[in-house]
Amino acid sequence: MTAASRTPPEEEQMLREISAALASFDRRRDQVIPILQMIQERYSYLSMGAMKRVADHVGIATSEVYGVATFYNQFRFHPPGRHQIHICLGTACHVVGGDVILENVERRLGIKEGETTPDGEFSVERVACVGCCALAPVALVDGDTFGQMAPSRVEGIFLGFDLDRERREREGGKGDVAQSPPPQ
Ligand code: FES
Repeated sequence: MTAASRTPPEEEQMLREISAALASFDRRRDQVIPILQMIQERYSYLSMGAMKRVADHVGIATSEVYGVATFYNQFRFHPPGRHQIHICLGTACHVVGGDVILENVERRLGIKEGETTPDGEFSVERVACVGCCALAPVALVDGDTFGQMAPSRVEGIFLGFDLDRERREREGGKGDVAQSPPPQ
């Protein structure tokens, strides 16, 4: 698995909190989606452990909960990275190569969309139209809009992160992460 994950104590803590929160939900199958939404809202993703707690609560198999969750693309199964990259694949972006931009980002990070790098630094996801089609193809990097994306711009964005990290390490903050995306 290429995703970053919580440490075992963090996972335990999260599962304890989820178990406590489950007490306010009826033990019925029709509660599965509201419960999953509650978990995702609090923790930004659904871990297998969390889905098992949900399954135990409503009395169905974990695989069934997983099946429900994967049916809806609102759910994610990996913790988001510290830097979140969203590639627009709405129609306007798709027709001018949004999928190529996504492939470039995936290749650069060594992960697929929906995943997070093992160091927890970056995650990448596809999104539907973000409302600035005139700038297609569009990417969002930590919420900032980057228009007219091209493979060279993908490189430029990661170069900016690399340089920022190197600068912080030189300044003695070794291990710190880049705090902001490079200029657009
Ligand atoms: S389709 Fe990408 S911004 Fe509209």
